[in-house]
Amino acid sequence: MSKIDQYAVFGHPIKHSKSPRIHSLFAEQTQQQLSYCAQDVAADSFTTAVTEFFQQGGKGLNCTVPLKELAWQHADSLSDRAQFSKAVNTLALQADGTLLGDNTDGLGLVADLSINHSITLSDSRILILGAGGASRGIIAPLMEKSPAHIVIANRTVEKAITLSNEFSQLGDISACAYDEIKNSEFDLILNATSASLTGELPPLADSLLAKNGNCYDLAYGNEPTAFVKWGLAHGAEKSLDGLGMLVEQAAEAFFIWRAVRPETADIITLLNSERN
Ligand code: ATR
Repeated sequence: MSKIDQYAVFGHPIKHSKSPRIHSLFAEQTQQQLSYCAQDVAADSFTTAVTEFFQQGGKGLNCTVPLKELAWQHADSLSDRAQFSKAVNTLALQADGTLLGDNTDGLGLVADLSINHSITLSDSRILILGAGGASRGIIAPLMEKSPAHIVIANRTVEKAITLSNEFSQLGDISACAYDEIKNSEFDLILNATSASLTGELPPLADSLLAKNGNCYDLAYGNEPTAFVKWGLAHGAEKSLDGLGMLVEQAAEAFFIWRAVRPETADIITLLNSERN
């Protein structure tokens, strides 16, 4: 009798991950037989844990903080978007036994913004807060939507400059410190800093958000994040957290592994209702 196909998410910390719930909902919806669990894996045990997982018959892995760059290094081959982002959130076992690394985060964000929330990206002025791994994963898919320009603001401005230089061939992108944008306006502000995790906020000027502008925090929680609250307090038409992005990036990973695309809308509604 053949064993059920095994998938997992590795990360540290991982206890509160919603990925096992999301993937079991996808499996139920699409009538796929699989198991998906969360495993606490620190950076120094990543290689051993991945090797063991696939040796024991695992078919695919999600990797989250702090493992995405390590997964990028570990993959035998990379999708174009993973190559660009230097981060992998999805590893898929191939027929020849090698591991393909992909990054579905950016697609997940763009799907949530444009399909689920009807937020227009083309010709819009986009501000990305933060210049770490989370920012790196979303720039190319955002650029594909032809925004007017993207500005990356970061506490450590050198990191924003490096990032902006890496993506400059894709479109109009620049970098700056927070105090350099205090007189600018943006249609969409994306919080890709890790500040939300500690309830903090980057130093944002009150006038940054254009009239009818939107705010989006890549992080999510049971309560609105500090940045979601900032957006609401500063007149955002929508001020959203990253739960929808989480479900959308998971759907894309599920598609890579199973060649079946789950419907996300009902699952996002369900997860939203569970946190209210
Ligand atoms: P991730 O992979 O989640 O992006 P990271 O690579 O450690 O994590 O990057 C974290 C980002 O959040 C960085 O841009 C960091 O700014 P610095 O590069 O200046 O360190 C930003 N960040 C974290 N805490 C912050 C805070 N309290 N205010 C502003 N930015 C913050």
